[in-house]
Amino acid sequence: MSRKEGRVGLFYGSDTGCTEAVARMIRDILGSSIVDLYDVYDIEGPELLEYDFLILGLSTWHDGQLQSAWDDFYKRFSQLNLSGKKVALYGLGDQYGYSTYYCDGVGVIGKLAEKNGAQIVGHWPTEGYEHDESKAEIDDDTFIGLCLDEDNQDELTEERVTIWTKQIQEEFGLN
Ligand SMILES: Cc1cc2nc3c(=O)[nH]c(=O)nc-3n(C[C@H](O)[C@H](O)[C@H](O)COP(=O)(O)O)c2cc1C
Repeated sequence: MSRKEGRVGLFYGSDTGCTEAVARMIRDILGSSIVDLYDVYDIEGPELLEYDFLILGLSTWHDGQLQSAWDDFYKRFSQLNLSGKKVALYGLGDQYGYSTYYCDGVGVIGKLAEKNGAQIVGHWPTEGYEHDESKAEIDDDTFIGLCLDEDNQDELTEERVTIWTKQIQEEFGLN
């Protein structure tokens, strides 16, 4: 296994392209010279272990289910030892249409990564969202990662992504 020292591995899963578009935005902000993008459909699992800094992106579907590539990958992901890794998460969802499952996938994958040794960075405030319940919440005020909503708040996406990406850049210690 080759080591990608000082680089960021960004692993995303996206059914209709929204999470993928955000992956490219994040890559463009951090710089393609340090970020490698992977569609989770195309990976086995050990690729993640080459990086000390990981960004995991996924949408939520069908009342709180993981996006399909992440759903297929879930078992292999759960077997990875992530100790020593700094992991940031972001997700796409629909806070009005799926108000009791908003961005659940981010919470499911984030909590599993933490259980498997990762240090989670990139917490994000819940202020400005109107969902009822979300597994991505770690308390009433905080999501475990960046939650986006292209269905209802697309005008906020660029600003949220820009602020959050700068935040994780600092938390990774990359600037
Ligand atoms: C049938 C259907 C089910 C959905 N279920 C959820 C859900 O349970 N929770 C949520 O937050 N968003 C849900 N969404 C919203 C999607 O996650 C959202 O449209 C997202 O931007 C899709 O991102 P992607 O194109 O990267 O897959 C659902 C959308 C559809 C069409």
